[in-house]
Amino acid sequence: MTSTEDPLGLASDAPLFAAWQRMSADVRAGRTRFFSIPGHKQSPRLTGSIVEGDLPLYAGLDTVQLSGGMLAEAEGKAAALWGVDWCRFSVGGSTHANQAVALAVAAPGDTVVVSRTLHRSMLTGLILAGLRPVWVYPELDAVHGLPVGVTPESVAQALTEYPEAKAVILGDPSYVGTTGDLARVAAVAHAAGIPLIVDGAWAAHFGFHPDCPPHALALGADALVISAHKTLPAMGQAALLLARTRRSGGLLDPSRLERGFEAGHTTSPSGAILASIDAARALLAGHGERILGEAIALRAHSVQKLIQIEGLQIVEGADPVKLVIRLAGTGASGLKVDNRLRAAGFLLEMADRDTLVPMLTVTDDRAGVDALLEALATAIEAERGPTRVVLQNPSWRTVPVTGLAPREAFFAEHETVPAEQAVGRISAELIAPYPPGVPVLAPGEVITAEIVAGLRRVRADGGRIAYAEDPDLNTFQVVTTSGRRTSGAGW
Ligand SMILES: Cc1ncc(COP(=O)(O)O)c(C=O)c1O
Repeated sequence: MTSTEDPLGLASDAPLFAAWQRMSADVRAGRTRFFSIPGHKQSPRLTGSIVEGDLPLYAGLDTVQLSGGMLAEAEGKAAALWGVDWCRFSVGGSTHANQAVALAVAAPGDTVVVSRTLHRSMLTGLILAGLRPVWVYPELDAVHGLPVGVTPESVAQALTEYPEAKAVILGDPSYVGTTGDLARVAAVAHAAGIPLIVDGAWAAHFGFHPDCPPHALALGADALVISAHKTLPAMGQAALLLARTRRSGGLLDPSRLERGFEAGHTTSPSGAILASIDAARALLAGHGERILGEAIALRAHSVQKLIQIEGLQIVEGADPVKLVIRLAGTGASGLKVDNRLRAAGFLLEMADRDTLVPMLTVTDDRAGVDALLEALATAIEAERGPTRVVLQNPSWRTVPVTGLAPREAFFAEHETVPAEQAVGRISAELIAPYPPGVPVLAPGEVITAEIVAGLRRVRADGGRIAYAEDPDLNTFQVVTTSGRRTSGAGW
């Protein structure tokens, strides 16, 4: 059955979404009264309509005992769609899912091979789990200096040097939509008897259209993290952790995955967010190829229009929906263009001096995209200037010198020192320009003049320096010279 609440009739294939539909109707009709959390009780009386639709899972869409089993059924349907035997829906984003899998694949003190362009959430996962990373680095594309994937050869090399490694952990696709050869990396990991974990936060749509790359699980990965809220029409924070476990002949322990997942998941998950994951999964299952085909066509149409703007370049990655615009050839500042677009009511996913990422998804339509393209062309012309050389983003180029393991540095005593005195010292903090959220400096890494200069360049260009104690970068938090630990660090 279709309605304005469910225009494609997804609820017939989505048990949790159907429960949300039923209960929303009951609430609207006054048939259900809440004496449970959330404290807003579905009433707009005190805080207005912001609470609308925020139905809880426990004592809400299902009982406290989950006796209806809708969540398990919905997660089972997702596992089947991605071809694996284990799936959990998270209301904590890929951040939570990354940390959950880090807690599940190894034990404190164990070594893992990890891409250095990992998202900060995986780095904090390593800290939580006490894992020791052996870094591998993606190749960089010669034209744009953007990452194009970690090669199987570099993973094989790392595994030869560190045969004790317990897992390979890669972020793929990159923030700019480029991918590596995951099938061969999976083969390399499996030859060593260890799992490949993929943070595919940006790739919830992969595998559901012939022009999209297959998803990581289809290429042999053992676990995949995806943000449903990024590329699918799910609510903010919605994410999935999917895995092939020992139950189906895989390498991962399902009990450890459960424990790792529950460790950091709220005990009061939003039923609405979980139901929106179920709806997005049903959408992919029933309509994926059609709606992705439309999104791919919209992106192609956008590219045709955009390349008519003199000096503008498009990054061609493997993701046929991702639109990454390079502006250096137009001389326009991406941040100024972004400000103009924001003033005109267009909010972009990402902007820095040389790059714009207007996020296109299956939700966009031609009229909306055409309006953006017109506003974008106008903003670029208004900001046009002399062509400039592209700034190298330090997020993609960091090759750190490690002084302490991340967890050791995280728990070490630290002090604040002026930037000049920080060079040569071990960082206690994680600093990541955002987006892409890749740490340029991780706890335990030696601060170099090059890193300070790279971060300052991003800052000077108006970029957001996230997680730094001092985002102006005048001071840094460093491990005291004794480096004494203040807590039992697990190794
Ligand atoms: C590669 C990658 N992994 C994980 C995350 C975290 O995702 P979330 O915002 O869903 O927690 C991000 C966020 O941008 C990301 O880019």
